[in-house]
Amino acid sequence: MSPRLTRRQLFGSSALAATGLLATSGLDVGPASAAAVSTPFFHDHQAGIATPAQDHLVLATFDVGDATRAEVATVLDQWSTAAAEMTAGQPIGSTLPTSMPPADTGEALDLGPANLTMTIGFGDSFFSEQLANRADRPRGLVELPSFPGDQLDPVRSGGAIVLQACANDPQVAFHAVHTAKRLALGVLVPRAIQLGFGRTSATVDGQSSARNLLGFKDGTNNLRAQDAADMARYVWAGHEAGPAWMEGGTYLVNRRIRMRLELWGATSLEQQQAAVGRFRASGAPLSGTHEDDPVDLAATGLHAVPLIPVGAHIRVASPTANAGEKLLRRGFGFADGIDPVTGELDAGLVFLCFQRDPTAQFVAIQRRLSASDTLHRYLVHTASGLYAIPRGLEHGQGWGSQVLA
Ligand code: HEM
Repeated sequence: MSPRLTRRQLFGSSALAATGLLATSGLDVGPASAAAVSTPFFHDHQAGIATPAQDHLVLATFDVGDATRAEVATVLDQWSTAAAEMTAGQPIGSTLPTSMPPADTGEALDLGPANLTMTIGFGDSFFSEQLANRADRPRGLVELPSFPGDQLDPVRSGGAIVLQACANDPQVAFHAVHTAKRLALGVLVPRAIQLGFGRTSATVDGQSSARNLLGFKDGTNNLRAQDAADMARYVWAGHEAGPAWMEGGTYLVNRRIRMRLELWGATSLEQQQAAVGRFRASGAPLSGTHEDDPVDLAATGLHAVPLIPVGAHIRVASPTANAGEKLLRRGFGFADGIDPVTGELDAGLVFLCFQRDPTAQFVAIQRRLSASDTLHRYLVHTASGLYAIPRGLEHGQGWGSQVLA
């Protein structure tokens, strides 16, 4: 277990409340105290990765347009100053009336920090001649290949900068991105915003599994922040990543995955469970009876048929099938209305995962899933992005001076 994470993030009263551990310790966490929960902004690693997953997401991307390096650095520094204020539940700047428009837009004034985290990342196009030395480009920032069945929307995909705002109150997360967009006015070009609700992954021990929009418990076999060895092996980048600011950073893959919910809803529970490899009600693997039972890929039933079918999602995504690789998943549900052509729901999973080597981890696993995962027949990937996530900031440091020094 990482001593820093233990001391400063996981077992501070705020993180305890967020993991639900306060409740089990007999302390009452009512709505008022839940709103007061905050996650520290300054830390070795950025918050919003290994910190307890919240309930709401606002994911925003920006392009750089023709802004200069100095202009972009100033905005990034303003963002991190604002992020430190907002994650502490403070308004931006003074709230006293003046003849100028108020610095803070006000929609989160009474809502408390609500466990807000703001996480920044940089896509390939950020490392252009215009801004950064090409040599500063993190080495894992490859171009993601296209996978069978992809139907990617170019606007929702990519982007030079990503901001992931997560909170337990949707308006607090919105306020964070609204503020960032305002501060970037005239310098950065807003590209896309994706809202997400209902975390689908537990990221720390003690956090229960939630259900995704297919109705299945998700995140059971996710990496857990308390497992320092797994975090070091699978999530945190080292000096191999290139620039010094990536040591302790990671890479984020974002996939907007639409679920074919009408087709899924017309599928028998037996077939649904065979596609996932787990029982819907309990979340147990088809080889066991309890959610936390180990996934036994070798277990067989009648006529030596594998209990977890050959095409089951948890078999094809398992470390056994993927050279031992794992991911830290931190996704959210989305529902963006009705497809005007088919009348079907445009809803699914904002699949977010963090890893130290996107090629060996996300790309390798997704190649297998898109080739042989039964669940893949019910999914359409509609947006994609890969971003380098810098290490956390020290007090007094800003995102601009960190990355564009
Ligand atoms: C809408 C899309 C998806 C849905 C609904 C979904 C659902 C699930 C469910 C229900 C589980 C079992 C519970 C658990 O251990 O978390 C699971 C496991 C897993 N999923 Fe997904 N998933 C989706 C997409 C993906 C993608 C795109 C990847 C990676 C490229 C992925 C990687 C994994 C991994 C690594 C596991 C754990 C497997 C194990 O070792 O047991 N999933 N997923």
